[in-house]
Amino acid sequence: MESAHMSKRYKIAWLEGDGIGKDVMEASKLVLDAIKFDAEYIPGDIGWEFWCKEGNPLPERTKEMMKTTDAALFGAITSKPKEDADKELDPKFKGKGLSYSSPIVGLRQEFNLAVNMRPCKAYPGNPLNYMDDIDLVVFRENTEDLYSGVEFHPLPKEVMDVLVKNNPKMKKFLKVPLEDIAVSLRINTRKACQHIVRAGFEYAKKYNKPTVTLVEKPNVLRETSGLMLREARKIAKEYPNIKLIETNIDALCMWLVKSPTDYGVMVASNMFGDIISDLAAQLVGGLGFSPSANLGEKYGVFEPTHGSAPKYAGKNIVNPIAMILTTSLMMEHLGEHDKAVKIERAVAAVIKEGKVKTYDMENRKATEADKGGTVRMAKAIAQKVEEQ
Ligand code: NAI
Ligand code: MG
Repeated sequence: MESAHMSKRYKIAWLEGDGIGKDVMEASKLVLDAIKFDAEYIPGDIGWEFWCKEGNPLPERTKEMMKTTDAALFGAITSKPKEDADKELDPKFKGKGLSYSSPIVGLRQEFNLAVNMRPCKAYPGNPLNYMDDIDLVVFRENTEDLYSGVEFHPLPKEVMDVLVKNNPKMKKFLKVPLEDIAVSLRINTRKACQHIVRAGFEYAKKYNKPTVTLVEKPNVLRETSGLMLREARKIAKEYPNIKLIETNIDALCMWLVKSPTDYGVMVASNMFGDIISDLAAQLVGGLGFSPSANLGEKYGVFEPTHGSAPKYAGKNIVNPIAMILTTSLMMEHLGEHDKAVKIERAVAAVIKEGKVKTYDMENRKATEADKGGTVRMAKAIAQKVEEQ
């Protein structure tokens, strides 16, 4: 009988990755402990170190381990350009045709984490808020579009021939040598468009948001952005109480800076979503405040929007709030609503009080004196969790 009342013990993949990924993950553990989240954390190898040592930044064993867990928490990874990646690879793997690719992009594609949800809220008292009352959520398609990875340089002749045959606009490139042409394909499927638009509308419905803003460029990208727009219009009909706002990405960037409180839920394809999520993050204090959730049908990988900031790695200097808000998103996804709310309230309380600040909250460069700031902030938040 008693077991029915016992809370579930979760299995969480613990993927620290590189650089400040480790700092913010360790700090967030203080908050997870304070909230008495009953979980087994299973560490997984991922990131630059494993590229250098093993020729694979996302080892098979990590993916297998993740399949046994309820969700994953992820810090950040370091990606370097092709030449640098090749140089740092262990000599025993050189010349074997291995090439580096980002393990977080890999995870999104392999686990089909098609929705990237990125909330950006102006917590009252944050001196960095661009304006009061900003409350935005970006829904970014996460698996295709210009980031599909289908790229050519030089352009193979067969590909050129097929393109010329099928589209007259291609003819003008016939004069250009093939080695002087680079092509990255923007591939968008109806299913993925529908999926990300629906995710945005469902969120708007759940949280009573009056609008969903589609951020595309269908006047120029008539087929890819056009497909998104056409699908969005169809899906919008199923939600008569929510207004679809159709925008072009360029103008939207201007409007977001001019009147950010006019927007709530934003939906975009992969690259446009990538761009507007950094813009939205800066409106509420920057990357230290921006959490994110990569969501599949069931599984989720939860990570701050920021990267590994190598210059601050291991110095315990950066802001852990993005990572701590990320744990709140994970709680919500796991159905632990009370814990999700408590973590967010604790973050909001510490920001409002304004006693503990990491360097970025003072809008200046970090110095030696800022060391320890990551843990100081996490402890202050953990204490607020305990006081609730
Ligand atoms: P970044 O996000 O790592 O850092 C840019 C700057 O933002 C930092 O120098 C710092 O001033 C500030 N910043 C970032 N996180 C912060 C925090 N928690 N608190 C306070 N300030 C913070 O982006 P950058 O420098 O372009 O890339 C560094 C590495 O991270 C690269 O190797 C890149 O490929 C990788 N990266 C990884 C991502 C991921 O793991 N999902 C996402 C973005 C970049
Ligand atoms: Mg980005």
